[in-house]
Amino acid sequence: MTQTISTNSQGHLTIGGVDTLELVKEFGTPLIAYDVKQIKQQIAAFKEVFIKENVSYRVTYASKAFSALAMYQLIAANGVGCDVVSGGELYAALQGSMAPEMIEFHGNNKLPAELEMAVDAQIGCIVIDNFQEIEFLDEILTRKQQTIKVALRITPGVEAETHEYITTGQSDSKFGFDVLSGQAKKALEQLLANPRMQVCGIHCHIGSQIFAVDGFIMAAKEMVRILKQWHDELGFEAQILNLGGGFGIRYTKEDQPLPAQDFVKEIIRVVKQEITQANLNLPEIWIEPGRALVGQAATTLYTIGSSKEVADVCHFIAVDGGMGDNIRPALYQAKYDAFLAKDPLAKPTQVATIVGKYCESGDVLVKNCELPDTKPGDILAIPSTGAYGYTMASNYNRNPRPAVVFCEDGQAKLVIRRETYQDMLAYELSLR
Ligand code: LLP
Repeated sequence: MTQTISTNSQGHLTIGGVDTLELVKEFGTPLIAYDVKQIKQQIAAFKEVFIKENVSYRVTYASKAFSALAMYQLIAANGVGCDVVSGGELYAALQGSMAPEMIEFHGNNKLPAELEMAVDAQIGCIVIDNFQEIEFLDEILTRKQQTIKVALRITPGVEAETHEYITTGQSDSKFGFDVLSGQAKKALEQLLANPRMQVCGIHCHIGSQIFAVDGFIMAAKEMVRILKQWHDELGFEAQILNLGGGFGIRYTKEDQPLPAQDFVKEIIRVVKQEITQANLNLPEIWIEPGRALVGQAATTLYTIGSSKEVADVCHFIAVDGGMGDNIRPALYQAKYDAFLAKDPLAKPTQVATIVGKYCESGDVLVKNCELPDTKPGDILAIPSTGAYGYTMASNYNRNPRPAVVFCEDGQAKLVIRRETYQDMLAYELSLR
């Protein structure tokens, strides 16, 4: 997906054909504005690769990236499944009209109550992560006289080149079964012996915000090698090979990710080649993009407030949001660009550090940002905030979480209203 800045005849930034200055007049700031068409185009692009390559597939949206009801409704309407990682996400997905069979459930510590919810809803697949979970699930299925489809999460020993907090494929990851030690095979044997669990396939996810295709190739080869071994040793035939998500996106001008479809093309090529060599039947190939479906589709709009000049050192420009609506710079040293919504292409005249309004020195959104002259009241736009922004938002300092709008064909629809001070006290009980 390329990062294109769209403007209207007045030179203002537009999102989904809507003038962002009009948007903020109506909905206030901070405001997260999604371009719905971009999400639809990304979905279509992923699907097209599979269709062209003539393989059975499923695109499963990793809904932790942005788990709004409206988002579940959008993906359900576009033939995409979703992965959930908690009872809360499962509840939202079901409320958001996701068909249960299109939902898969991930997580390294699924609670018995969450597993029970999944069994009651008869979701499409529970991705088994550890031995304890097999025990919990067995108890639930036995008590309820139910069955469910499961897949096995494996750590293929591949280390993705990304921030260490968002790698997951290496053997010392907290997720999934390790292959080398033999625990993955032992887990599969337990699942195959359990008449209430129908093992449909194997899964891996090597990490997030990955720019190189090599990690996916190594993972795909390793997964097929494991399939071959388990086929020969246990007679196991996988219907599904799920290679996870993690396709990198463009946050700043410096980022040059491959188009997500290129990752998928390569994955399909390698899986086909390895499966043929192993003399196995080609399983369905599943992928789980989160960020790649929604990340670049949203822009956060802030109002500029105070600024501070430290002679010869730094110029701070503060906005009315910050780490409460985007924790990624503080947590992962994530980088973003920023520009003025009234004139995104204006020539820069200053280098500033964009900070938020939270009581933390680490509340920095963009370092060394080139901007034209700014004044209080100007609207600052930070693009590529569609993934892991709102879902990781907090009420730190009792700042309300922002509103979210979906924009398409010149129309804006409020999909999450701004939190109010009253909302923030809604769960609290007074001593008096
Ligand atoms: N599948 C599994 C099993 C996952 O754990 C994840 C992400 C995904 C798919 C989707 O990954 P994506 O395509 O979105 O990269 N909060 C961090 C990202 C954490 C990702 C956790 N798992 C961030 O803001 O970068």
